[in-house]
Amino acid sequence: MLYLGLIGFPVKHSVSPAMQNAALKDAGIDGIYLAFEVKPDKLRDAVFGAKALRFKGLNVTIPFKENVVEFVELKGEAAKIRTVNTIDLVEMVGYNTDVHGVKAALAGNDLNGKIALVVGAGGAGKAAALALLEMGSTVILANRTESKGMEAVEMLRMYGECIFWPLSRVEELKGKIDVLVNATPLGMSGFRAEMPVPSSLLDGVELVFDTVYNPMNTPLILEAKRRGCRVVYGIEMLVHQGAKAFEIWTGVKPDVEVMREAALKALRS
Ligand code: ATR
Repeated sequence: MLYLGLIGFPVKHSVSPAMQNAALKDAGIDGIYLAFEVKPDKLRDAVFGAKALRFKGLNVTIPFKENVVEFVELKGEAAKIRTVNTIDLVEMVGYNTDVHGVKAALAGNDLNGKIALVVGAGGAGKAAALALLEMGSTVILANRTESKGMEAVEMLRMYGECIFWPLSRVEELKGKIDVLVNATPLGMSGFRAEMPVPSSLLDGVELVFDTVYNPMNTPLILEAKRRGCRVVYGIEMLVHQGAKAFEIWTGVKPDVEVMREAALKALRS
């Protein structure tokens, strides 16, 4: 029996268990994926406890993606942004499959030479920024807390053209942006049904991507559609980061369509 899990706080509304268990079943793997709410002071106990219980792997979500780096060897994108969303507990290696998730979600859009504004400098913001830089865009990273935004830009600058911009002055970027990404929880169900930026900023923006997937139609997505921008839903990133994590743990490429269907069904229920 293959044991997999998710640790975060909160995790109650996560659709990852539905999505990963559907993929396990579809691939004919005898395994189970469970979500665990972990108190912040119990993070180490949770990671090593799961290892002791012979879990093969964990996904890591808010607020632990940056804290778990001290327990694992960082590989690939995880090392670039010091943020982990997937752990191989046998090898004690940390990966970041969010970067792949963003790239796959945005595949089909030519992002080379585009100016992208990423709002948010947490795990999701850094993953989105790195993906866009590696796809050839220039990234403007805006964040409410300036020190955190600047720290992220310091790291990201090695991978392309990336500058920090204070969120309070984001309106000054009107007319200068091709791509807009929301990597804050604004718009998420149970948080605040708000836009992360003033709607006037959407004028002239070609592509809007919201990392929030619940609801699918966030205030930002709705406003973007109203203004004729192309939109990419957060569910695409969710499904593709999950598929990559599944492959890391099992060595099997899952059926992404099965995972998308299961995630959408869980979102509707
Ligand atoms: P995740 O792993 O999903 O990225 P996170 O690390 O908690 O989650 O990051 C959340 C991001 O959303 C941060 O950039 C945060 O800004 P601060 O660095 O200033 O905390 C941003 N954020 C959260 N609530 C926000 C709000 N009400 N307005 C603007 N930004 C917000």
